[in-house]
Amino acid sequence: MPLLAIESSCDETAVAIYGKSSSSDNNGLLASLISSQIELHKDLGGVVPELASRNHTQRISPLVAEALEKAGLGAQEIDAFAATGGPGLASSLTVGHSFAKGLALAAKKPFLSVNHMEGHLLSPFVGEEQIPPHLALIVSGGHTLLIRVRLVGDYQLLGQTLDDAAGEAFDKVAKMLELPYPGGPEIEKLAKTGDPTAFDFPRSMLNENNLDFSFSGLKTSVLYTLKKLPNPRERLPDLCASFQAAVFEVLIAKALRAARREKLSLVTLSGGVSCNATLREQLSAACHEEGLTFRSSPPSLSTDNAAMIAFAAYHRLRAGQTSSLSTDIDPNLKL
Ligand code: KG4
Ligand code: ZN
Repeated sequence: MPLLAIESSCDETAVAIYGKSSSSDNNGLLASLISSQIELHKDLGGVVPELASRNHTQRISPLVAEALEKAGLGAQEIDAFAATGGPGLASSLTVGHSFAKGLALAAKKPFLSVNHMEGHLLSPFVGEEQIPPHLALIVSGGHTLLIRVRLVGDYQLLGQTLDDAAGEAFDKVAKMLELPYPGGPEIEKLAKTGDPTAFDFPRSMLNENNLDFSFSGLKTSVLYTLKKLPNPRERLPDLCASFQAAVFEVLIAKALRAARREKLSLVTLSGGVSCNATLREQLSAACHEEGLTFRSSPPSLSTDNAAMIAFAAYHRLRAGQTSSLSTDIDPNLKL
């Protein structure tokens, strides 16, 4: 049952083909290609929507052709087409969504419009037939969410950021420290040789009895600290390690609080920030200590990719769901 999915919600054009087959030894992924636009936006300090959508338009057709070739399939052998319908940048979403609808129309096959956050949410399970009940922590560039998952499609939002997303805080702090875009991996690299206790940055909302987050105060605190330092460049590793520690302490404490409160024994981590090995190790250790099982999306499926979109579409299709060809994108789509 090969299914082709396109992801184009931000600055990665991605195409994946998912379907259990005897020749597939990669969790059912027959192809998963990502064409990153990072180089294009790097010197501009962030994603420029107009540039991003024009670039998706250029890259999408060759990437679909390459994915089909890699999977050894013709377009007529694909049984369903999917694309990210939101949330994301409107002009970027439109490219992949319209392209997938066109492919579905031409092939007379079902179309599925997929929520990008559902893709992240299910990414720790790619290749599996059953999604167990669990507590999901999704940490990406646009979202920080704690979600109770009962089964595919039954999601309860328990907590979220009230201002900046965790990844957004990484990117903004990296910009202050004059590190290249995207900031998350740069901060992780520098933090490796820094002291996480060197600066006592605030742990916002840590002691409030809720499951929400706030990272904008932390960002401001880094800025004030930076202004007071005579040679901030010499303290980059310590600044990065201390900033990271402040973000992760709150994420981990609230994820565990949520799991305890909801009596869930499985905790998952996904989204771009879950690429960070320190976060994965610390959350894993904290879960272990509490007797909880921990799963993270593999790093290759943590940042934006189409494999997670194909996988979410696969489960929706299995549940008998499809989307109409008149389905529109929604830049603010909620889970
Ligand atoms: O999930 P994603 O690729 O895109 C969104 O849906 O937003 O997440 C991108 C975010 C960026 O903010 C990036 O800085 C962050 O993930 N990120 C990291 C790391 N790798 C990517 N943050 C911390 N450590 C990393 N290693
Ligand atoms: Zn994402």
